[in-house]
Amino acid sequence: MIPDKAPKEDVFHCPENLKEESHIPSFEKYKEEYIRSIENPDEFWGAIAKDFFWKTKHTGRFLEYNFDVTKGEIFIKCMEGATTNICYNLLDRNVHDKKLGDRIAFFWEGNEPGDELTVTYGELLQRVCQFANVLKSLGVKKGDRVSIYMPMVVELVVAMLACVRIGAVHSIVFAGFSSESLCERIIDSQCSLLVTADGFYRGDKLINLKFLADEALQKCREKGFPVKKSIVLKHLSKEPEEVVGSQSPPAKRSCPDLELHWNPDVDLCWHTLMKGASDQCEPEWCESEDPLFILYTSGSTGKPKGVLHTVSGYLLFVATTFKLVFDHQPDDVYWCTADIGWITGHSYITYGPLANGASSVLFEGLPTYPDMSRMWAIVDKYRVTKFYTAPTAIRMLMKYGSEPVQRYTRKSLKVLGTVGEPINPEAWQWYYSVVGEGRCPVVDTFWQTETGGHVLTPLPAATPMKPGSATFPFFGVVPAILNDSGEELEGPSEGYLVFKQPWPGVMRTVYGNHERFETTYFRKFPGYYVTGDGCRRDEDGYYWITGRIDDMLNVSGHLLSTAEVESALVEHKAVAEAAVVSRPHPVKGESLYCFVTLTDGATYNATLEAELRKQVREKIGAIATPDYIQNAPGLPKTRSGKIMRRVLRKIACGEKDMGDISTLADSGVVDELYRNRCCTTA
Ligand code: WTA
Repeated sequence: MIPDKAPKEDVFHCPENLKEESHIPSFEKYKEEYIRSIENPDEFWGAIAKDFFWKTKHTGRFLEYNFDVTKGEIFIKCMEGATTNICYNLLDRNVHDKKLGDRIAFFWEGNEPGDELTVTYGELLQRVCQFANVLKSLGVKKGDRVSIYMPMVVELVVAMLACVRIGAVHSIVFAGFSSESLCERIIDSQCSLLVTADGFYRGDKLINLKFLADEALQKCREKGFPVKKSIVLKHLSKEPEEVVGSQSPPAKRSCPDLELHWNPDVDLCWHTLMKGASDQCEPEWCESEDPLFILYTSGSTGKPKGVLHTVSGYLLFVATTFKLVFDHQPDDVYWCTADIGWITGHSYITYGPLANGASSVLFEGLPTYPDMSRMWAIVDKYRVTKFYTAPTAIRMLMKYGSEPVQRYTRKSLKVLGTVGEPINPEAWQWYYSVVGEGRCPVVDTFWQTETGGHVLTPLPAATPMKPGSATFPFFGVVPAILNDSGEELEGPSEGYLVFKQPWPGVMRTVYGNHERFETTYFRKFPGYYVTGDGCRRDEDGYYWITGRIDDMLNVSGHLLSTAEVESALVEHKAVAEAAVVSRPHPVKGESLYCFVTLTDGATYNATLEAELRKQVREKIGAIATPDYIQNAPGLPKTRSGKIMRRVLRKIACGEKDMGDISTLADSGVVDELYRNRCCTTA
């Protein structure tokens, strides 16, 4: 599966100086280790596990599993019998055993330049213990779910690790999601407590997060699920006497415009609670397969799925992928620009870097604020060595040319990474040659919320790169490409990307719905985990992701299901039916093109269109705002009433050749929709 020799042409090789310090310095070494990871997983992962603390050792095999629905229930168990605590491994082990208490865990860089803080491993441990005691004092116990809805502040990491310390399960909801989405997630995971903040700035826009959180809690009450307490961090409205620890709040963050409604029955002030809390807290020792966290991802039925990850396997997998994919070295400063509300932030801002004792930048703001140079200003300010971002950000910055990049030296950079969607070769080339000046390998990491960590990825000093290809599998991962009949294809081929066996970090279930887990990932092709992505393998064995092949869209690296946007649209009284398809977008990758059929008597006009956009934003969040909405008096349907999305996709893209439409009940609607198609966005 992996070629005997690295290809010679059309590839970019790693600079020699990186190889000298690298963990995996050559393609030969990668192949050797890869084979070992597949042939002898117990030995491979067992050696890695030795770097971590286990209260009790595992018994039996490293991984036990069933990946075949025809043979019974799907399960994956890693290191059964072992007990540990991830928070202990991320913090206590680094502070006490490795003597890294004074090492900086995070350089926090606020939205406003100049607004900054540093937090050492020692300080982080103290604060996490304090907050863990706060959670305990509120009755939170092992296994309880806690919902976290916060901006990118250090306290978000504190809240998540405090849950981990006491064995509670965090469910983080991205602060860009609507109150409706938060409510849905709180109820699905039956959270007993919410941790949130007053508000934050995104660029120059003030977001009143507490208002959204209050709305969500009100909706929960209306649906018969009252959340008893909500802890509110005063990020913008903190009084000087509420400050805990040595850092004082920079004046720029005070915000007189923020209106806060305090509900004394529910709301508790983070700062008041922390003041009285002890900074000593014995960790709760957890079983390997105890739940660690739930993170929601879009599902093709429209209802988000609570992806569940568990303790030991996730720890080993994110720690190892972080170390090898970014070739982590002790003097690195690492920066991942994702939000912790997504899996990239979970695995590669919190868990992976802290497990390796890394120093990271935690950035609250936007790449475009106050100007197009912000990223590179931050790179120079902290001398960032490893930088990880999304293709959509690269494409957006690319539009402004190289001048904003060249205002800064970026000379500290060694490795560049991307994640979230396929990167087009032009964006890859720009990233590699303008941002990295041809010195830094680009690691195009393919993975999913479900996979926990990187599954197809180059290793910076080992893998010759091809722009746009996620290259080869990470250790322990066995990919295959299947055709429509579920047959494995050999050699150069294209089809469904699947995985043949589990690796330690793969999800264990959909929270509260194991049936849905099996149906979504394992029923289509028994014996395989189905990613939902299409993939091509070239003559050199390189994997190229071709995009989703289910009803999902990837807008700026965020997955959305067509069904969830459609159901948000049809909740408007003027809409009888809606069909949403993807249209390629130069910056966002894909954009949402929505066809709506109105109810009798409703009229299509600009006001309605604005209302529909607002409706989707309020139901899901700003990331789901439709780019195009077209009035569709009729939709192309087969005689059995199924909407032919293939035809709608062509109309959305302005393609005239519709292919075979002989099965349509009324082919006349196609011409009409094509004539009235939208050409410009709102
Ligand atoms: C897409 C994000 C191509 C893919 C970590 C996947 C990618 C989905 C890449 C998961 C990549 C992610 N190349 N496509 N390097 N990385 N994707 O769950 O469609 O938010 O299935 O996890 O993003 O999105 P998710």
